[in-house]
Amino acid sequence: MKKIFTNASQIVTAKTGGKNYKRGNELSELEVIENHSIFCENGIVKDIIPNYAVNKFVADEKINLNGKIILPGLIDCHTHTAFAGSRANEFKEKIAGVHYEEIAKRGGGINTTVTAVRNSSLTDLVELMKPRVQEFIAQGVTTLEIKSGYGLDFENEIKLLHAIKIINEIFPIDIVSTFLGAHTFPPEFKDDHSGYVDLVVNKMIPHIAKNKLADFCDGFCESTAFTSKEIDKIFTVASNAGLKLKLHTEQFNNVGGLDVALKHKATSVDHLEVLLANDFSKFTNSETVAVLLPGVSLFLDYQFAPARKLIENNAIVALATDYNPGSSHILNLHLIMSLAAIKMKMKIEEIINAVTINAAKALNREQSVGSIEIGKKADFAVFNTTDYSDIVYNVGRNLLSHTIKDGEIIFQH
Ligand code: NIG
Ligand code: FE
Repeated sequence: MKKIFTNASQIVTAKTGGKNYKRGNELSELEVIENHSIFCENGIVKDIIPNYAVNKFVADEKINLNGKIILPGLIDCHTHTAFAGSRANEFKEKIAGVHYEEIAKRGGGINTTVTAVRNSSLTDLVELMKPRVQEFIAQGVTTLEIKSGYGLDFENEIKLLHAIKIINEIFPIDIVSTFLGAHTFPPEFKDDHSGYVDLVVNKMIPHIAKNKLADFCDGFCESTAFTSKEIDKIFTVASNAGLKLKLHTEQFNNVGGLDVALKHKATSVDHLEVLLANDFSKFTNSETVAVLLPGVSLFLDYQFAPARKLIENNAIVALATDYNPGSSHILNLHLIMSLAAIKMKMKIEEIINAVTINAAKALNREQSVGSIEIGKKADFAVFNTTDYSDIVYNVGRNLLSHTIKDGEIIFQH
């Protein structure tokens, strides 16, 4: 099947010339081509040709974009979309001044959602996730990461990973699956942390790796969750089993998570709201992506991660929603993009790279998605405007017109 997407006012390619990520100053570079069309075959970009040459190409279908703009399909590289229940009551407490960590310490927070997930069937979880995933697609998201982490026992972590697998089969977008057994300690292991770590490394990880139920192993390194020593043990077993690594770290405290993640060459480290000035330079030559989550700072009314300092230090920076019921109940990647501009002072070009090519790198998918380049998947987000700045400038508004996955229009406003 040959297709031509023609008559876009801008093609924002986010291309890197084969490097497939952008660090430091490179994040400001955003190739924008005018008066060109994209030629695709069997879901792959084959050529980017001047509009005047379009008639020389034989195609089965010509899609006229009527002056709209076309970007690489957006990538949300950090979400907890697989959850049940509501934490609206805890949200009310937070508004009244109770701290997120305080709620966690008394057994609420993540464990409130664990109870709801344990009381839900596989079908319940799939049904809960469907409209959420559809909402991401309606924003132009073509690759979506989803974590487990609300089961926290063998049966329920596997149930969540199965639900994510079913979602990947139902929807045309690419779902990247992450095992987050080390999210927090479940109530039955409150006083037996080593017992829970043993369960993760001896039973959960071997089963998940053997059955290919996840691409990544993630953890939460915090004073209220796992120590760096525990994460070290989990990461050693996970990476030997063939899982790639991610870590929630430097969110509230600095307890050694960053160094452990870098030691294990984690694909990404996520959060970094309290990253220490001494640690900025650790990203200068590192291939580990710094995934920043400004929705958490908004939702918890908390400090924002030092995006400018990371970029000055040559880091590979990505952005994501961290969509979850407790710390970022924000299913809106466009809002995250606007927050990154307003609160973290990221430039619009940096932001677009951070939700496309660098987000692809944070998911180890940068060879196939994240930019509009010959040989990559024809995954596009088409916006109803003539200038890419409008996507960030229109705060909380969805300008998306079409979501295109593997060359097929899968959503149209
Ligand atoms: O990324 N930091 C830990 N985990 C999630 C929050 C999960 C929750 O509160 O349910 C996060 O912020
Ligand atoms: Fe998270």
